[in-house]
Amino acid sequence: MSAPHVPVLLDAVIDALAIAPGETHVDATFGAGGYTQAMLAQRARVFAFDRDPGAIAAGAAMVAASDGALTLVPATFSALDAELAARDAVPVQGVTMDIGVSSMQLDQAERGFSFQSDGPLDMRMSQEGMSAADFVNEADESQIADVLKAYGEEPRARRVARAIVAARPIMRTSELAHVVRRALGYKPHEKKDPATRTFQAIRIHINRELGELADGLAAAERVLAPGGRLAVVTFHSLEDRMVKRFLRERSGSLPAGSRHLPEVAAKHAPSFESVGRGLRAGEDEIARNPRARSATLRTATRTEAAAWPEHSVTEGAM
Ligand SMILES: C[S@@+](CC[C@H](N)C(=O)[O-])C[C@H]1O[C@@H](n2cnc3c(N)ncnc32)[C@H](O)[C@@H]1O
Repeated sequence: MSAPHVPVLLDAVIDALAIAPGETHVDATFGAGGYTQAMLAQRARVFAFDRDPGAIAAGAAMVAASDGALTLVPATFSALDAELAARDAVPVQGVTMDIGVSSMQLDQAERGFSFQSDGPLDMRMSQEGMSAADFVNEADESQIADVLKAYGEEPRARRVARAIVAARPIMRTSELAHVVRRALGYKPHEKKDPATRTFQAIRIHINRELGELADGLAAAERVLAPGGRLAVVTFHSLEDRMVKRFLRERSGSLPAGSRHLPEVAAKHAPSFESVGRGLRAGEDEIARNPRARSATLRTATRTEAAAWPEHSVTEGAM
């Protein structure tokens, strides 16, 4: 049995959402329902999404206890606008995203997310589609190297990709971790296991995490009512950069010299305002919940302007 997921930056998220009773809010990443529970406590009507059928199944008790206030949606948040429209729930007053994997996913060895315990090389949040094993065993060497470089920021991506191809087939998380460590010359006392970057990269790739984030932000922009609040928590710099760039662009404050600014910002009125600075967890929270160490919360308020059609934040995603 895995440890329960401890929600990160929960108080800051709930403060930023400033929920009035009866408002409709979206929890785009239900997980163990930590944020959803806090939204329900503020008497919001909540539509909570998760692409992991396990998370949705585990949320049944929370739905039953919610007296009709909670609807779980087993879908990716890139489909947020279509799924809400199908339930006659647009517009909404808040959209919250807590990107990444949950403790339940990481802690269950059979889900294959972790190199710290041995399990099948899976890593699929939705439990369907291409698995990590499919990718490492079928992709060609240059494709693997590109993924490791782009999504793991692995400086020796080619070397690791060559070692992976030479060791195929690789079916277990422990085998992949061993291949990466051997390729990079890991010493057990080193602080950071070199397999971290490879596992992150493959997970991001097979779950299309950056594409999902870009699509999810654009979908949130379309469903939020004027005055509606967006709150996004990310766990690594690739995602945080994407959120920061999206909010800067949509609030008309991309730095001068940005090559998108003149033509894009000239055409569209800002769709977001009151963009907050990235907020990090304090030492107390980090002591209680080490996962909070790498979290950043960004918030903004939707204006009355139409949603922008452009999708420039996907740039750089493969
Ligand atoms: C960090 S956990 C969320 C934890 C939650 N805030 C809580 O307090 O329990 C992220 C969850 O989002 C889900 N998820 C990740 N990407 C998703 C996507 N694109 N669409 C829907 N769900 C997603 C994962 O399956 C996981 O359950």
